[in-house]
Amino acid sequence: MKESTEANLKDAFAGESQAHVKYMVFADRAEREGWANIARIFRAASYSEQIHATNHLKALGLGKTAENLEVAYNGEAFEIDTMYPDYMQVAEQEDEKRALQSMSAANEAEKVHAGLYQRAKAAVAGNADMPTVAIFVCPVCGYTMEGEAPERCPICQAPSSKFIQF
Ligand code: FE2
Ligand code: FE2
Ligand code: FE2
Repeated sequence: MKESTEANLKDAFAGESQAHVKYMVFADRAEREGWANIARIFRAASYSEQIHATNHLKALGLGKTAENLEVAYNGEAFEIDTMYPDYMQVAEQEDEKRALQSMSAANEAEKVHAGLYQRAKAAVAGNADMPTVAIFVCPVCGYTMEGEAPERCPICQAPSSKFIQF
C-alpha cells in the first residue's frame, strides 16, 4: 500500500473508532435525559462508525492470530510500561483526581490484558488454544479477571452481580 493512503487509513480508523465510542456514550446520556429518539440516532451512527472502523482496519491488512497477539501484547505493554505511568505522573502533579482515577483503573486492567496475551502468545506458539476459563469484566471500570468474579471489584468495588462474563 502507498504510504499516504496507509497513513490516511490509520487516521480514519482512529477517528471512526473514537466516533463509535463517543456516540455510544452520547446515546446513554441522551437516554438518561429522556431523548429516546435522539439516543437511537446516536446508537445507529455509533454502530455505523464501528463498521467504518472495522473496514478501514481490514483495508490496512489483517494478520493471523499469532501476529495479532503480538500487536495486542505490545500495545498493552506500552500502556503499562510507559504511557499510563507517564500520564499518571502528570495527572498527579496537576491534581487531576478524576483523570488519575480513570487512568489508574485502566492501567490495572491493562496489566491483566498483557498477562492474558502473553500466555495466549505462548499457547499459539505451541499450536494450542488457551484453556477454557471464564473471564469477567467489571462494567464500571473495565477490570478484567479470570476464573471467578470476586464479591466486589478490587479496583472500584462494583458488585460481582454486575460483571460481564466472556
Ligand atoms: Fe464514519
Ligand atoms: Fe487493554
Ligand atoms: Fe471495577
